[in-house]
This record gives sequence, C-alpha cells and structure tokens, in this order.
Amino acid sequence: MNSKNLEDKIKKLKEKEKAIILAHNYQRPEVQLIADYLGDSLDLARRSTMMDCKLIVFAGVSFMAEMAAILNPERTVLMPDLTAGCPLAEQLPAQAVRRAKRKHPNAVVVLYVNTLAKAKAQADVCCTSANAAQIINALDEEEVLFGPDRNLAWYAQQRSDKRIIPLPEHGYCYVHRMFRADDIARLKKKYSDAEVLVHPECDPGVQQLASHICSTSQMMIRAKASPAKRFIIGTEVGMVERLRREFPNKEFIPALETAICEDMKKHALEKIYLTLRDKKNVMRVRPRIAERARAAIERMLELSGRAARD
Ligand code: 13P
Ligand code: SF4
Repeated sequence: MNSKNLEDKIKKLKEKEKAIILAHNYQRPEVQLIADYLGDSLDLARRSTMMDCKLIVFAGVSFMAEMAAILNPERTVLMPDLTAGCPLAEQLPAQAVRRAKRKHPNAVVVLYVNTLAKAKAQADVCCTSANAAQIINALDEEEVLFGPDRNLAWYAQQRSDKRIIPLPEHGYCYVHRMFRADDIARLKKKYSDAEVLVHPECDPGVQQLASHICSTSQMMIRAKASPAKRFIIGTEVGMVERLRREFPNKEFIPALETAICEDMKKHALEKIYLTLRDKKNVMRVRPRIAERARAAIERMLELSGRAARD
C-alpha cells in the first residue's frame, strides 16, 4: 500500500474509532505529519488528558505511552510497536531507587520521565527536560536523588543550590552522548552567526557551548522567537526535520547527522494502520504501580503548571 492510501485509511479509522495520534518530535516525518499532536514528553503527557477521544495511538517510546495510560485509565492507549523502548529508562530499576532511598532517607526523589513505571512508583515527583530545574527548586528538601540521566542532573545542578545526587552514577542517553564538544566548536566557527540549541541530555562540555539548552518543544519556541536565521541543533535528527518543515525561511544544521534514536523510528505508517485496525498493542500498567506513578506525574504537572502561571 502506498503512503497516501495508508494515510487515508488511518484517517478513516481514526474517525470510526474516535482515536487520536500523539507523536514525539523524534518520529519519522510521515508519522509527524499524520499526528493530531506533536510535542515533547511534557506536552504529550498534558495533551493526553485533554483530547476528546476513546483511543490514543502513541508514537513515541514506551515510557511515554505508559504515562498516557497512567494518566488516562478510562482510555485505551495503543503503541504501533510495543518494542520501542528507551535504553536510558532501562538504566534505573525500581530496586536501585529503593536502595538509594534507604541510603539517603532525607532526600526527595525526583525522577526524569524517561524511567519505567515501576521506578516512577518509587518517586516523589517526576520531571522532564523542560522543567527539571524548576521542579527541583519548587521542592522544600535540600537533598535530591535524581535519575537516570547524569547530564540532566548536571544541567539542573547548575541552576540549583540543592545537593543533587545522580542515580545511577552514570546514566546516559546513547544518542545524546554521541555529540562532541569539538564538533560543536568546529560548527560554531564555520557558522559564526548561528544560534546553538542543544538538549540537556548532551554532555556538560556540549551544553557549555550552547546558546540555549532546551527540551525538544522549547527548541521550536526558540527557533520561532529568535532573530537568528541559522541554528545548530544538538539533538535527535527527527527534531531537525520538524524545524525545517515548520520554519522554511530559517536554516537548521544538525550537529550530528547520525544522531538517530532507533526505537523512536520503529513506528511506521503501516504499523499505525494495523494497530488501529486490529486495536492491538495495548499499553498496560499494573493498577498498583499506575496509582503510585500517577501521583508522581501529577505532582510534576501541578508544580510545572503552577510555576508557568506564577
Ligand atoms: P523531550 O521531552 O525534550 O522531547 O525529550 C525526550 C527525550 O527522550 C529526549 O531524548
Ligand atoms: Fe531514550 Fe535517548 Fe531515545 Fe530519548 S533519544 S528516547 S533518551 S534513547
């Protein structure tokens, strides 16, 4: 089936089943184009609760679809490919969080949403790349257990006087670890008029060379607001595709063409169609885990919303 046919069939099925498609900014361009809403982890979690629908088809990695399932117990969440996971999230088992809590009984536990639901169930509050420092600074405790991304912990530490303890010590995203400070410095020299936007999952040396450190949706906001005509982008290449499509009069240079998240690319149009047609690949989270994880996610949404309103 060609992609036009598939798009038509997906649109018809969406209407029939009262379904919506949520997609992350790293999705393939054809998946981005068919989405009802495209965004970063925070946007997608928020949006999942706002849409008028029965079914949510989630084109992202499993922790994102899990969050949608946790926040929407009355809706069914489907994933076009249930094997799309996040290797960063796998680096923090719930057991490791429990152990760290015993070792640091006075610390508050702030977990990046890039974690499995079982780990989230051990957290006091979650955060995303868009609000990590804001969430940490909104809490009363002075000691913070933070995981699993070591670079996001470093980023938050630069913006907080609290003691942030990374958990595990060296958690990382293999995609963002590919970016090298030397390459960014070379690109900055070549394109001296360019703004450098990088994700906080990049190494500290890369972050230090950036004009702005942003979540993926914050990159959209900055690209729109900035007077600059040229940008060097330090994140997964799906983001560059979206920026180029939405701001055709500006130039976006990927800091690394091979920065590809293999799991994010697993959702093809054909899989979306088959998932909707057969209502298969249901994302399920055990109720006891979901209930505890929901409290940590909702606390993040509350703190993050409050700070945005203040
Ligand atoms: P964003 O929330 O900034 O989109 O990041 C999610 C992610 O997985 C980055 O690698
Ligand atoms: Fe996980 Fe990295 Fe892929 Fe984001 S880019 S989903 S952190 S592996």
